[in-house]
Amino acid sequence: MRNLIDIKDLSVEEIDNLIKVANDIIANKEKYSHKCDGKKLATLFFEPSTRTRLSFESAMLELGGSVLGFSESSSSSVSKGESVSDTIRVVGCYSDIIAMRHPKEGAPLVACQKSVVPIINAGDGGHNHPTQTLTDLLTISREKGRLNDLTIGLCGDLKFGRTVHSLITAMSRYKGIKFVLISPDELKLPDYVIENVLKKNNIEYCETKKIEEYLPELDVLYMTRVQKERFFNEDDYVRLKDYYILNKAKLETAKKDLSILHPLPRVNEINTDVDDDPRAKYFEQALNGKYIRMALILMMLGIK
Ligand code: NCD
Repeated sequence: MRNLIDIKDLSVEEIDNLIKVANDIIANKEKYSHKCDGKKLATLFFEPSTRTRLSFESAMLELGGSVLGFSESSSSSVSKGESVSDTIRVVGCYSDIIAMRHPKEGAPLVACQKSVVPIINAGDGGHNHPTQTLTDLLTISREKGRLNDLTIGLCGDLKFGRTVHSLITAMSRYKGIKFVLISPDELKLPDYVIENVLKKNNIEYCETKKIEEYLPELDVLYMTRVQKERFFNEDDYVRLKDYYILNKAKLETAKKDLSILHPLPRVNEINTDVDDDPRAKYFEQALNGKYIRMALILMMLGIK
């Protein structure tokens, strides 16, 4: 039985194949509309979500399957004190596959040890978010036509931003990748990602506080929200939340074929005047999230 807890649970070949299947789904939707007839996906969200949960549900519905679950822990037996392991074990009796999000780092890993059905990590605290990374990879590959030889700027909350950690881990396995890490000192990429991913794999990277500094060199600019819910101190959040605000004027020096991505939700870090710039790809990215999750569900259920 397969689980997807960390993006490294998938080989590069498997990721490339998921992208291939997602592209085929986009081109031939009808072909896939009954692939999951009779199958059930449970979405267990112990932490808020819009895109991830609804794109998972919409993915399963478009495959002909059905969905069940909860979108906040207060509406489940967790509020009565049930352990995550027990919840997962029980939900496995009612579903064929589970996507779960939890505020605690490592919770999906613990859950999968007791689960009788495949578990997909839909985000665990400030740690990982592998299916957002699959979404990002599909988007980059569709927009740039490749996943190698790219200079990728990651901007904002690189400390708590789980999508950033998973994306760096995934992209580090492709050739010719350079990262520009753009953040204030307080929100720098954690040492464990620098040591275990970047340094270990000899990946070229630099760190800066200024978004303008390397902007002209970037092929992809990945903006992120300051992760309010992971701050211990409200004052720190207020001080840092508007550190970066990308707007149309700032994009003057950027490449004409830059792709601007954001996992969303956006708060203030991208001004809405960027939305109609042809380089803004974050809404396409949100749509791609559904297609890559369709491909993932098929793979994890072993459906051809
Ligand atoms: C991200 C997440 O949950 O980590 N959102 C998402 O899944 N699209 C990013 C965020 O919340 O800032």
